[in-house]
Amino acid sequence: MKHSRIAGTGSYLPERILTNAELERTIDTTDEWIFSRTGIRERHIVAENEHTSDMAFEAAKKAIESASVDLQTIDLIVVATTTPDRIFPSTACLLQQKLGIVNCPAFDLQAVCSGFVYALATADNFIKAGAAKCVLVVGADAMSRITDWTDRSNCILWGDGAGAVILQATDEQGILSTHLHANGNYADMLTVPQGVSKQEGSKTILMEGNAVFKMAVNTLDAIVDDTLIANGLEKADIDWLVPHQANIRILQSTAKKLGMSMDRVVTTVDKHGNTSAASIPLALDVAVRDGRIKRGEIILMEAFGGGFTWGSVLMKY
Ligand code: COA
Repeated sequence: MKHSRIAGTGSYLPERILTNAELERTIDTTDEWIFSRTGIRERHIVAENEHTSDMAFEAAKKAIESASVDLQTIDLIVVATTTPDRIFPSTACLLQQKLGIVNCPAFDLQAVCSGFVYALATADNFIKAGAAKCVLVVGADAMSRITDWTDRSNCILWGDGAGAVILQATDEQGILSTHLHANGNYADMLTVPQGVSKQEGSKTILMEGNAVFKMAVNTLDAIVDDTLIANGLEKADIDWLVPHQANIRILQSTAKKLGMSMDRVVTTVDKHGNTSAASIPLALDVAVRDGRIKRGEIILMEAFGGGFTWGSVLMKY
């Protein structure tokens, strides 16, 4: 089995919806400003007693059900998250416990908003190396927990949620290529400075919005080119763009680069905000379930995030 293919998708959004109208009451902003700059109208927020592993569990159950796989055939769990429940054990181990699986390897992967693309590439390589046959790949984040809700310059962006896929070994073509990159020189441009070994600085997100915007647009343009060239494809060969949902203007710019109309771009940012590692699998699940994305179509997923990290996955769905 030389290939890996997505056999099922699932997603979860917390019940509570926080609208721009509500934010107007707590910070100096307007729905019009937020929507025109970002495309966001509302986002979901985790309940006080709800954690990243709970969201991951709900999304994972749906992905497992839609792939029709036996739980015990899962032989690797990878969770992309920047907001783990605990310092340790990993959210992947907590998810494994909730699912009632034992013995398969389980680990978290941290690449912020590029987390899902990194996790999918990792799972694909495990499968291609013959080290796994059925991988549960999850992107889950509770960004609201690391957001300063008084900082209007970035609190308007973030939301919470989880998305999951089952990636299976197969003889058919599935994932066609993965491209991953990082440049730690930009660590301070988008960061939560305080961690575990470093106990100083802000505990919430700091971002140079304008600079991040420009870097994201240029970097994503370059990775789209790299992906097309590596696969010998033309822009017109891409059926769907399923991008990381950071800002509608970034999505529009990538679509323009691809010569793609926005109705071929899966867009959830209006209702989900930026859910970090969860945003791509959430968008993918939405478009698979509503029948837009069909088997055999060529899907380009791309993401950019803190680090900076960025990457793409091209696949035949
Ligand atoms: N409501 C109203 N006004 C706001 C505001 C808000 N929520 N936030 C900032 N402003 C004001 C600023 O104070 C500034 O006012 P001034 O001109 O009087 O100084 C003005 O709006 C413009 O601010 P600026 O930061 O230049 O806005 P922008 O057009 O760059 O939009 C972001 C800000 C955050 C929406 C935008 O930079 C962005 O989306 N960046 C990318 C972020 C991202 O995607 N990060 C995650 C990557 S994974």
